[in-house]
Amino acid sequence: MTLYLDHAATSPVRREVLEAMWPYLSTEFGNPSSHHSVGESASRALLWAREQIASIFECRPAEVIFTGGGTESNNLAIKGISLANPRGRHLVVSAIEHPSVLESCAYLARLHGFEVTEIGVDRDGLVHADDVAEALRPDTTLVSVIYAHNEVGTVQPVALIADVARSQGAAFHTDAVQAAGWLGLGRGGLPASAVTIAGHKLGAPKGVGALILRAGTPIEPLIHGGGQERGRRSGTENVAGAVGLATALTLAEADRAVAGARLSVVRDQFIEAVLATVPGARLTGHSVLRLPTSASFCFEGTSGEAVLLELEQLGVIVSSGSACAAGSSDPSTALTAMGITPMWRTRPCASPSATNRMLARWLRWRRQCALPSSACKKSAYLDRISRFQCRIVAVRQAGWGHGLNASVALARTQRGNRPVRSVRSPGLPRGRVDGDTHRRHGFCDGTRSRAVAVGPA
Ligand SMILES: Cc1ncc(COP(=O)(O)O)c(C=O)c1O
Repeated sequence: MTLYLDHAATSPVRREVLEAMWPYLSTEFGNPSSHHSVGESASRALLWAREQIASIFECRPAEVIFTGGGTESNNLAIKGISLANPRGRHLVVSAIEHPSVLESCAYLARLHGFEVTEIGVDRDGLVHADDVAEALRPDTTLVSVIYAHNEVGTVQPVALIADVARSQGAAFHTDAVQAAGWLGLGRGGLPASAVTIAGHKLGAPKGVGALILRAGTPIEPLIHGGGQERGRRSGTENVAGAVGLATALTLAEADRAVAGARLSVVRDQFIEAVLATVPGARLTGHSVLRLPTSASFCFEGTSGEAVLLELEQLGVIVSSGSACAAGSSDPSTALTAMGITPMWRTRPCASPSATNRMLARWLRWRRQCALPSSACKKSAYLDRISRFQCRIVAVRQAGWGHGLNASVALARTQRGNRPVRSVRSPGLPRGRVDGDTHRRHGFCDGTRSRAVAVGPA
């Protein structure tokens, strides 16, 4: 059986998400801009999705701009905010941003005369607020620092950096594609001018995302046309995608604290196991300030591709480097920025239900390799592992089963103990209940703190 450990690259669509989306791909297929009942139904669903996301970001629905994914949101944020801001032509970004941020900056430098200052990171991949403060200039328009890193999982002190940027009058954008569903997104903890999220890292489909743009932040649209999304992103809205994104984010948020705590323990066990059993293994990224779902390693000696292939033969799917660099033989930009020069990378990301199995399988593999039947095999093995040089791992995307159970529990509670579908579409968002309610009704094991059931009106 295959064990998929690459959820940082993409995740499967959750069943509840698919169910919530289905009406808007079939019966409720209207164009939300149409002024008739079919269009209005789609428009109501879009509004529901906007409101749902706004409630998680503690912002107004009008501050949510639906896009075609993380790359587009990052492009819109970097180019749109920079081009609309008359303050100057200077940008500050970290050296470990996603290519959609770095390449947008390169575009602005090439075609619009912007200057870009890239802030270095320390060996753990951390950006220091002091370095950002030092780089700021009176003509700095925008600072952009990734919330949680897609390769090494390091979580940045974005609130601190946002304050530094704001104190100098610069806008602050963060790419929260990997952080969404695992870290706080509310305005209090994340005082950013703009935040990027993407559906397919959360259990929603590929090709849908959002840019949360705080009111008062000027932006120049990149896509012109019918003026949808208040003129900030033209094009008929992906209604089903927006509903899917809102549903996935709501489910992830409801389970975030419990799933995060549980997975952090598994992650730490996994890291410990790898470091203890694989000679020459080294953890990359911060040991504490990292996504609960992420672990990444360098191994002395061999290429990430070799490890990737070997693990695949054992049924374990991992990747080396970020998905957008797949196929490239260049060293990872992020690892290079962290001072890890050697030859890179392999990254597996696991679903929570699979995590323990993954650990067992990994350890079994290590044991098998370590117990060769002949001296010849042993030396071949030692030769192999001593040349490891890959970046492996990331235990990502907890709570799929978890979230599903939780929403079933709520639906039952509200329907007088009768089993019902976990997500009703169309239906109203049904609010939240706490763990005690669940326990009283005997629908959960008491480890969940709360749950939601979702679906647009
Ligand atoms: C941190 C980060 N930002 C942006 C993106 C791009 O998102 P999308 O694939 O939706 O374009 C990714 C995708 O891997 C990512 O990990």
